[in-house]
Amino acid sequence: MADDDKVERVVPPYQTPKGVHDILPEDQDFYTYIKKVVRHRARQAGFRRISTPIFEYTEVFRRSIGDTSDIVTKEMYTFQDLKGRSLTLKPESTAGVVRSYIQNNMNQLPQPVLLYYIEPHFRYDRPQKGRYRQFWQFGFEIIGETDPALDAQLIQMAFKIYQDLGIDALFSLQLNTIGTAEARKKYMQILQDYYAGKERSLCEDCKYRLEKNPMRLLDCKVEDCKILASLAPKMTDYLDKESLEHYAELKGYLDEIGIEYTENPKLVRGLDYYTKTVFEFWDKTEGAQNAIGGGGRYDGLVELMGGQPTAAVGFAAGIERIIANMKREKIRVPKKDELHVFVAQLGNEAKKKCLGLIEELRENGIKTMGALGKGAINIQLKLADKFKAPYAVLIGITEVREGTALIRDMKRGVQESVKMTKVTDRLVELIGEENLDKYDPGELLYS
Ligand code: HAM
Repeated sequence: MADDDKVERVVPPYQTPKGVHDILPEDQDFYTYIKKVVRHRARQAGFRRISTPIFEYTEVFRRSIGDTSDIVTKEMYTFQDLKGRSLTLKPESTAGVVRSYIQNNMNQLPQPVLLYYIEPHFRYDRPQKGRYRQFWQFGFEIIGETDPALDAQLIQMAFKIYQDLGIDALFSLQLNTIGTAEARKKYMQILQDYYAGKERSLCEDCKYRLEKNPMRLLDCKVEDCKILASLAPKMTDYLDKESLEHYAELKGYLDEIGIEYTENPKLVRGLDYYTKTVFEFWDKTEGAQNAIGGGGRYDGLVELMGGQPTAAVGFAAGIERIIANMKREKIRVPKKDELHVFVAQLGNEAKKKCLGLIEELRENGIKTMGALGKGAINIQLKLADKFKAPYAVLIGITEVREGTALIRDMKRGVQESVKMTKVTDRLVELIGEENLDKYDPGELLYS
């Protein structure tokens, strides 16, 4: 657990717990847009959406992510239910997706099975810029195929999504292979031999990792550890032929589809289930800090979790970090909830007319808000300004008597009198058919 956490007294007015946030309406537009892009790209490539539960048996994560990984040792929200079962809020989705693949006999489906998710995750991480305790990821898993062409396609898909979101130029693809589990075992012994006698120069975390998972020493960020890692035996010199061939083929495919990458022999990733390919998208200025996404092959995981031996490859990206980068690049997303019309009224009779009109406007796809309180008309108009509605409809005593309404162009400050029965048509004309927010539940259901 992060040791900088003081236990705060929880008294009104309440705050969110450390490291978690409300997603306020301003940011919802980003989430909506990113989800739309991900869904679009996923559908195009034949992926189908899956949601695994927010919590699983702790064992699902412990076994897959690894006993000695930072996630399992320090970052899981684990609790007991009323029957004393150990449960954990999902810190990532690959483990749950693999559990689901096995539980639902997806090996009976045509292979590979292509799944994607857009989900919240939970890690007891040390909160800082881009690092939260609840965060959203979208991710893709391809289960049931060994070919490196799929690794390449997956990377291309991640890349396309970053491109769609306008942030691809900020990131560099870091690529490595970490071989099969057997080859890695041999290499880990060689690493342990190399570090023998050097323990005193290592940070506390690395001293612990040296015994349990020496490969993690290679990507430690502490300066002394970095120096030792740079002189350590190279993993590629000890890898198996099959993994090296897979890696060479993958690079060939990436070259073919024009995706640039940086070979990074120190990239090992923090989850134990990977085999062969691993990759991360690093910020070009900040490096490994605040990686925007990562993934790799996990050919041994399905079997480890109780299924038949099945190869797989996957990737996930952090949505909060993507949004931060979109904002950094000043990228704007469509604002679906901006109002079209603000309806203001004066007097009881006018209010009655407004209720019907508001309903009619909304049914025609015009996003409408009504000031149905008792404020004076000029106060209501100020409100229309604050809500940034481009048009206001005004109905006062005269308009009720004459069966008309005033349509006011808020930007130009001009208004016209229109027959009540023509208000909707005139507003549709002014707003433009293409900008209406049409909603037809019947069509949504059956299309
Ligand atoms: P991961 O590298 O642990 O991989 O997470 C993927 C991405 O989630 C990171 O690159 C980062 O953008 C985001 N992320 C992780 N932790 C946080 C945090 N505390 N706050 C904000 N964003 C965060 C996985 O989770 C693997 N399951 C990916 C994968 C899928 N491998 C194979 N299939």
